Amino acid sequence: MTIQIDDTLFHLQTDHVSYVFHVMANGELGQLYYGPKIHAKTAYANLAAEDERGSMPALAVDQPAFQLEMLKQEFAGLGTGDYRYPAYQIENADGSRISEFRYDHYDLVDGKTRLAQLPSTFDDDADDAQTLTIFLKDAGNGVAATLHYTVFPHQDVIVKSVTYTNQGSQAVTLNDAYSSELDLPDAKYDLIQFSGAWTRERHLIRTPLRAGIQSVSSLRHASSHQQNPFFMLARPDTTDDAGEVIGFNLIYSGNFMDQVEVDHYETSRVLTGINPTEFAWQLDPGETFQTPEAILSFSANGMNQLSQQLSAFYQRHLVNPAFAHQPRPVLINNWEATYFDFDEDKLRTIVDQAQQLGIEMFVLDDGWFGHRNNDRSSLGDWVVNKAKFPNGLAHFVDQVHAKQMKFGLWLEPEMISEDSQLYAQHPDWLIAAPGRLKTPSRNQHVLDMSRQDVVDYLVKMVSDVIQTTKLDYIKWDMNRNITDLYGAQLPKSRQLEMGHRYILGVYQLYERLTKAFPNVLFESCAGGGGHYDLGMMYYAPQAWVSDDTDAVERLKIQFGTSYGYSQSMMGAHVSAVPNDQTGRQTPFKTRGDVAFFGDLGYELDVTKLTEADKRQITAQVARYKHYRPLLQFGTFYRIDSPFEGDGNVTSWAVVSADQQTAIAGWYQVLHHPNGPYQRLKFRGLLPEQQYVVNQSSEHFYGDELMRAGIILHPDMMTDVSNGDYQSQLFVVTAVQE
Ligand code: GLA
Repeated sequence: MTIQIDDTLFHLQTDHVSYVFHVMANGELGQLYYGPKIHAKTAYANLAAEDERGSMPALAVDQPAFQLEMLKQEFAGLGTGDYRYPAYQIENADGSRISEFRYDHYDLVDGKTRLAQLPSTFDDDADDAQTLTIFLKDAGNGVAATLHYTVFPHQDVIVKSVTYTNQGSQAVTLNDAYSSELDLPDAKYDLIQFSGAWTRERHLIRTPLRAGIQSVSSLRHASSHQQNPFFMLARPDTTDDAGEVIGFNLIYSGNFMDQVEVDHYETSRVLTGINPTEFAWQLDPGETFQTPEAILSFSANGMNQLSQQLSAFYQRHLVNPAFAHQPRPVLINNWEATYFDFDEDKLRTIVDQAQQLGIEMFVLDDGWFGHRNNDRSSLGDWVVNKAKFPNGLAHFVDQVHAKQMKFGLWLEPEMISEDSQLYAQHPDWLIAAPGRLKTPSRNQHVLDMSRQDVVDYLVKMVSDVIQTTKLDYIKWDMNRNITDLYGAQLPKSRQLEMGHRYILGVYQLYERLTKAFPNVLFESCAGGGGHYDLGMMYYAPQAWVSDDTDAVERLKIQFGTSYGYSQSMMGAHVSAVPNDQTGRQTPFKTRGDVAFFGDLGYELDVTKLTEADKRQITAQVARYKHYRPLLQFGTFYRIDSPFEGDGNVTSWAVVSADQQTAIAGWYQVLHHPNGPYQRLKFRGLLPEQQYVVNQSSEHFYGDELMRAGIILHPDMMTDVSNGDYQSQLFVVTAVQE
C-alpha cells in the first residue's frame, strides 16, 4: 500500500518519502507533512496543532483557535481568513470571489490514466502507481473540485492536478487555477532556478528564500528561454551529493507560474501551475476544466539523486514508451553548415561524406520549402522548393535511405509568413488583435492554434510530408513568441482562455501526429531551448537544448539543464570553429567531449573538414556508438559545477546500472600555467569493486576513486595539451576477477 487512509487522514508514501494531509475542522483540506518517510498513524495531533493568535479571523466564535492563517493548507482559497496567495480563485455568478471547498469523499485506484487533452504522466499497466482522488464541493456556487494525487513509489514522485466541474446552474469563471499547492512549515530553503536567455539557457541561480513573494514565470505563451518551469527548494547546506531538496516541475508548455510565498510566520507556500496573469476560464454549467499536472519529488541525499529519480521517472512514466529506451541516432544537421544556401547537389555531398564517417541520420533544416531563401517567407507552405530539389524531396530522401541513413526534416508548424500562399488563402488564421498592427518577430507570425480548422489543416499538411517523404524524424521549431493575443473565434468573456486554448491546439496536433506515425522521432526545438519543458517531452522525447553550440557555453547550459531533465532529452551537436555564436575556437575533441553527454549530432560542413578532423569524427562516432546506452541513458552525476567558484572546471559522469562502467567528462576553460593540483572524484561506483581508468595498469578500488579521487597529472591527462578549452574523458571499467 502506498496510500494509507484512515477516515479523513491521507498518508501518501513513496519508498523514502511521506506526504500527509487531512480534513480540517472546517471541512477543507490541511497539509500536515512532506519529507523523509515517517510511520503511518491514525492521527498526527502534533502536526495539526492549532494556535490562537491575536485577533485573527477564526472559524467560529467558539473556535477561536481555528485560524486559517495559522494552518498549513492543501487547497487554499482567499477571502475567509487566509491572506496568503490562493491555489485557486473563482468568480461567482454574482461577481463575488469567495469559495470554500469542503471534503466530500475519496476514491483510490491502482495505476494512473492519461489526461485527455493534456500531456500527462501515466502508468498504463497499473502496476507501478496508485492514484488518490479527493472530491471537494463548494455548496455556495455548486462547483466541484477534484484533487488528483498519484504516488510513484519507486521514483519518490508525487503527481498532482485539479479538475473543476461546474455542477451549479450558473456560469462561474476560474481566475486562478494552480496545479499544486504545497505549504511547508519553514522557510529555511534556497530557491534554485534555471534562468537565462536565448543562446544561454538554464543557468543555475541559487538564492535564499526571504519574506514575501519570489517567483519564476513566463508570459510568452511558451515555457521560454528566459525561465524554466523546473525549480528546486534546497536546504542551505544541500549539495549535489548530500542534503534535502524538493524538485518541482509542471507538465505544461505555456505561461506558467512557480511561486514561493514566505509569510510572517516564516512558512513557505509553493504554488505551481498556469500563470494567473492572462488567464481565466469560464465554466458554464456542466463544463469541466483540467489543470496541467505538477510533479513533486523529494531527495534527502542531494540534487544528484533528485535528478536521477526524476530521470528514471520520466523514462518510465512520461516519455513515449516507444522511444524511452531507444538509442537515438547520431545525426548531421545542415543548418550551421549551409543556413539557407543549399541545393540537392550540395546536400548530397554532405550526406555522402557523413555516411562515410559513420553518421546515421541526415536532418534537412530550414529552407527546403516554398520559396524560402531567407527568413522572410513561406512558413505555412510545407511543399518542397523545386529550385533546390528539382526532382522532389522524396527523390532526395530515397537517396539518403539508400545509404542506410535515416532522414529528418525541419518544420515550424505553428507559424506563418505574410509572404506565403497560406497567408494569401487564410489571412484570418494568424493571431492578431482587431484593428491593430500585427507585431512581427523574425519576420513571421503565429497561427491561431485554438482554431480547429487550423489544427486539421496542419495535421493534413504534416501527414502528407511524412508519408510522401517517409520521414524518420521531425525537428519541430517555434521561432517566436505570441504577441497581439486575441481569439477571433472566442467571445469577449472567453478572451483570457486564448493562451491555454492555443497550447491545447498544439498538443492536439502533436497527439494526432504521434498517434498516426508512432515510429517517427520528434525533436522539439523553439529556437533551441525555448520550449524545453515536460509538456513537449511527452510527445517529443528529445529537444534541441540551445542554439548556442559553443562547447564552453554548452557546459553551463547542459549542466544547468541536467538538474531537471535527462541526457537523452538533450540534443547536443559539434559545430565548426570559430563558433557562430561566440567566435570561440575550441579544439574539435573538446566539442565532441561536451556533446557526448547528450544525443550526439554534427552541425557543420563535413565536406570542408581536414583529413585529421574527419578521422576525429570517425573515431568519436564509433566511440559514442559503443557507449551510447550509457551516455544517453546511464545514471548521471554532476561533479564539478561551472556555476561555482570561478567556474573554470566542469566535470560530470554517467554510470551504468550495474556500476561496472562509467565515463566521466572533465573540462577546463582557461589553462593556468603552473597551476594547482587538481583531483577528480568519481561518483556512483561500487566501493569494493576494482576498476581501471582509461586502460591504466594500476587497479583502483571504487572507494578510492570516489573518496580520494585521481590526481589529474599528465599520465592521466593523455588528451590534454597546453592551452585553453581542454577536455579529458575517463572511461572507468570494472576489473573482472
Ligand atoms: C532555430 C533553430 C535552429 C535552426 C533555425 C532555422 O533557430 O533553433 O536550429 O533550425 O531555427 O531557422
